[in-house]
Amino acid sequence: MPLIQWTDALSVGHDAIDRDHQRLADTVNGLHEAMLAGQGLGQVSAALDEIVAHAAEHFRREEKIMAEAAYPALAEHKREHEQLVEEIAHLRRRFEAGESIYSLRVLQFLSDWLIRHINATDRLLGEYLARRRNDGPAV
Ligand SMILES: [Fe+2]
Repeated sequence: MPLIQWTDALSVGHDAIDRDHQRLADTVNGLHEAMLAGQGLGQVSAALDEIVAHAAEHFRREEKIMAEAAYPALAEHKREHEQLVEEIAHLRRRFEAGESIYSLRVLQFLSDWLIRHINATDRLLGEYLARRRNDGPAV
């Protein structure tokens, strides 16, 4: 069973953002599988690369959406993204230094972060965007 099970309850009501989140959940699940399946260094490294690439691409997209929608909480939201990028960079350095990152703690951290961020921070953004679509002038 995947570590993060995607359900509609995780939707924030914005298709592009939801699609990105599903893909990010898939990459975290991929790291989980790589760790379970014999923990080959190459596989784990590739899974980490994938998380870094998808997170960077997703955060850029979300930050662009926020800027275009004049989202008032953009700065705080962006700070949360930056904190995760730093955490992953730290994880990568530990991994490259030969330290074991094959722990449930690492995976738990990533999956908890993603679910918490989606349910709190991104949900507020989704609600703001929905209000703007309904009330605001056509954009
Ligand atoms: Fe976000």
